[in-house]
Amino acid sequence: MHSWTIETLSPEQTQSLGEALGRLLGPSTVVLLSGDLGAGKTCFTQGLGRGLEVPENEPVVSPSYTLMNQYQGRLNLYHFDLYRLVHPEDLHDLGFDEYLCGDGVTVVEWADRFSELGLEGIRVHLEHGEDEHRRIRFSAEGEASRSVLETFRRQWAAEGDVYDRV
Ligand SMILES: Nc1ncnc2c1ncn2[C@@H]1O[C@H](COP(=O)(O)OP(=O)(O)O)[C@@H](O)[C@H]1O
Ligand SMILES: [Mg+2]
Repeated sequence: MHSWTIETLSPEQTQSLGEALGRLLGPSTVVLLSGDLGAGKTCFTQGLGRGLEVPENEPVVSPSYTLMNQYQGRLNLYHFDLYRLVHPEDLHDLGFDEYLCGDGVTVVEWADRFSELGLEGIRVHLEHGEDEHRRIRFSAEGEASRSVLETFRRQWAAEGDVYDRV
């Protein structure tokens, strides 16, 4: 599988998709999110947090001002947003490389902003469609990421239509 696209019709469906992926993630996973402002990157991450069992009283919120928010679920979730980042080298001071190589799940919004970072992982690209429709394209680099995504796709196909469940 090179890439796989799903269309969601509401924020709840995008969160549900994120949750389903989050449930499958193991340690040392990197999820790279791209797409325009308002496409649903943070919304998808909120679902991912649920799938990682981040407590409901610790809501996942946009880290665009803080650059990174951290949550503790069954794995640590490190949620980065590079939108306001001017100098990618500032990431080193935040310990970005350690997070990427660590045992947690690192999610990066605007992951495509700095190609020089050479990021690899599960890629999720979100695009606006009509009204509340969003096209969400998944692809992956690296064997572990590809394998998670393949399981995710199969599970999704087997469980039937997302729209019946949200
Ligand atoms: N299908 C959808 N999926 C995700 N978000 C949607 C969808 N339809 C409408 N929205 C709305 O779009 C906005 C997405 O915001 P956000 O997740 O913060 O985007 P981003 O992080 O990509 O800038 C939210 O206000 C959300 O309610
Ligand atoms: Mg966001």
